[in-house]
Amino acid sequence: MSEWTKHDLLDLQGLSAAEIEMVLETAKSFREVSTRDVKKVPVLRGKTIVMLFFEPSTRTRVSFELAAKRLSADTLNISANSSSLSKGETVLDMAQNIEAMNVDLIITRHSSAGVPKVLSENLQASIVNAGDGCRAHPTQALLDMFTIQEKLGRIKGLKVGIIGDILHSRVARSNIIGLNKMGAEVTVCGPSTLMPIGIEAMGTKVNYDLEEVIQTSDVLMLLRLQKERQKDKFIPSIREYAKIFGINAEKLKHAKKDVLIMHPGPVNRGVELSADVADGKYSVILNQVTNGVAVRMAILYLLLGGKQQ
Ligand code: CP
Repeated sequence: MSEWTKHDLLDLQGLSAAEIEMVLETAKSFREVSTRDVKKVPVLRGKTIVMLFFEPSTRTRVSFELAAKRLSADTLNISANSSSLSKGETVLDMAQNIEAMNVDLIITRHSSAGVPKVLSENLQASIVNAGDGCRAHPTQALLDMFTIQEKLGRIKGLKVGIIGDILHSRVARSNIIGLNKMGAEVTVCGPSTLMPIGIEAMGTKVNYDLEEVIQTSDVLMLLRLQKERQKDKFIPSIREYAKIFGINAEKLKHAKKDVLIMHPGPVNRGVELSADVADGKYSVILNQVTNGVAVRMAILYLLLGGKQQ
């Protein structure tokens, strides 16, 4: 495939394996920019990119903003708390008003699945989904795949275990779809109450035996236990969850010798991961964060049709 044709990035269902490969290849060429003294290339000079986040974020928002700035785009951050939403304006009205100021691309995160799609159907600006509800977080999955390829040299044929709160995880859903397209074999593992019914239809195995998943996986991707959702009593207690599904150095003794430990962040230390594993030799958690900038540079560049220098 030689030409990028997509106008928006809403999810990974919408990308072919060749398009995912193109993002990863483009990201490879941008990774070096962030290591320069002057961390900037002029490929998106004159473009305006707006960050419209209705949910908290550290990594994704900062990473997109750095990516846009390193491509020389003008950036603007809009905080939902201090916007006119509090006066009753709808999300769509708000986005259309922002677009009326001639912005080129809007990056959005919202707790409701489908908000980025509605914006893409009603706006001319390109829309990038930075996480919508439990549905999709495409750039997280892309940076995860980039990190796996960087560390293990391939994605095809690898066994990836995704462990934790699968039910609420947009990261799990996007990774299942993306990793499948790239030829990996995905298994999800977690409490049965946090396992979506019929998840196998997305192209993943389900295995409730954590020890077996640890032993057989090339990559272990831990998910944040979404404590804010536990008031509905999906699990008896966080302490019990940590004991049964948390990963510590003892449990990792049975893992493959070059296993990768990944986590999209933010990490609940002592819950899904013990601190020694989060900071240990198998952990690539901070590499994921570093790679997120290059992958998001690639997405912005491809969507806005930049010319590489
Ligand atoms: N991985 C991720 O989406 O992190 P943030 O919520 O901090 O953006």
